[in-house]
Amino acid sequence: MAPCSTVILGTGSYAPAGILSNDDLAKRMETSDEWIRTRTGIRERRIAAPGENVSDMGAKAAAAALADAGLKASDIDLLIVATITPDLPMPATACLIQNLLGVPTNAACFDLNAACSGFIYALDTACAMLSSGRYKKALVIGVEKLSSIIDWKDRTTCVLFGDGAGAAVVGLVPGSGRGLLGTRLGAYGDSAELLWIPAGGSRTPATPESILRGDHCIRMKGKEVFKLAVRAMDEAAREILEQHGLHSDQIACVIPHQANLRIIEAIAQYLELPIDRFFINVDRYGNTSAASIPLALDEARRSGRIKEGDITLLVAFGAGLTYGSALIRW
Ligand code: ACO
Repeated sequence: MAPCSTVILGTGSYAPAGILSNDDLAKRMETSDEWIRTRTGIRERRIAAPGENVSDMGAKAAAAALADAGLKASDIDLLIVATITPDLPMPATACLIQNLLGVPTNAACFDLNAACSGFIYALDTACAMLSSGRYKKALVIGVEKLSSIIDWKDRTTCVLFGDGAGAAVVGLVPGSGRGLLGTRLGAYGDSAELLWIPAGGSRTPATPESILRGDHCIRMKGKEVFKLAVRAMDEAAREILEQHGLHSDQIACVIPHQANLRIIEAIAQYLELPIDRFFINVDRYGNTSAASIPLALDEARRSGRIKEGDITLLVAFGAGLTYGSALIRW
């Protein structure tokens, strides 16, 4: 029998209703729509309502992905949540989503932290676990409530991020030639402090002083991150194409991490691809970290940007500093 492929059987996404525009931000701090748009391409972002948790958003995206796949929560035996904003330090948000959806108690459920590359890391993990033959159907969720870890007094970071969720159902399909063709994952751990949350973990537990300093919020050296992001995403994209003997021109649609339009434009230039080959929604959501790629993937599929037989390239970069790319044939 032909070997099985790991195939995305359905996708779903969820964005909270609350919209925060650049003009809204300009009323609160020294910034402007013009500054944000020209530097980042972002026009607005979604902000979760008070009491709307990462588990709630992730469960909604997952329910949409299950419906798209024509499957039920009871079919799932592996649930991976990529996030840097779990509901709680413990237990894992995956367990909370398991409970919300009614995923069976014999399913493996865990969280994975690779920041903005999280969905690609989680997809690769799920596909490897499915390929082992020990699991049959996986839910892979990328979800973030970055509004909860932003320092709203720091205009160099707070204008960049937003909240949202995306999900994919993955299963084994015999000999189809479709599915995940390969991944390329990596990390620059020596640059961890370019993009980090200095306090609130076991190294520096939160104190009243650390909270006053905002040390439990995202801190970033934007210019350095920008340069490393372009280099890492370009390399990750190039290497995976080379590994599979593909030219960038054979990629029907690139789904890049939606951090900054200028980063996406730079990657397009390096890969010698027209910008319209890239699916872009950073203007509407800002950077939603681990949710960014699955949210864009779901919108791309539902808007008809991805057709049967197409090869899609996913490419991301995030805190860690992690990076990753994946090739999928539909
Ligand atoms: N509004 C107005 N002015 C601002 C703002 C703001 N929101 N933020 C910074 N400025 C000012 C700065 O203070 C600076 O002023 P100065 O020259 O008087 O000192 C000026 O604007 C220029 O700032 P730069 O930092 O030089 O602006 P730059 O062109 O580098 O753009 C940006 C900044 C958008 C953050 C850019 O560096 C960037 O996108 N970096 C990558 C960020 C990123 O993508 N991070 C996430 C990747 S990984 C992940 O997703 C978790």
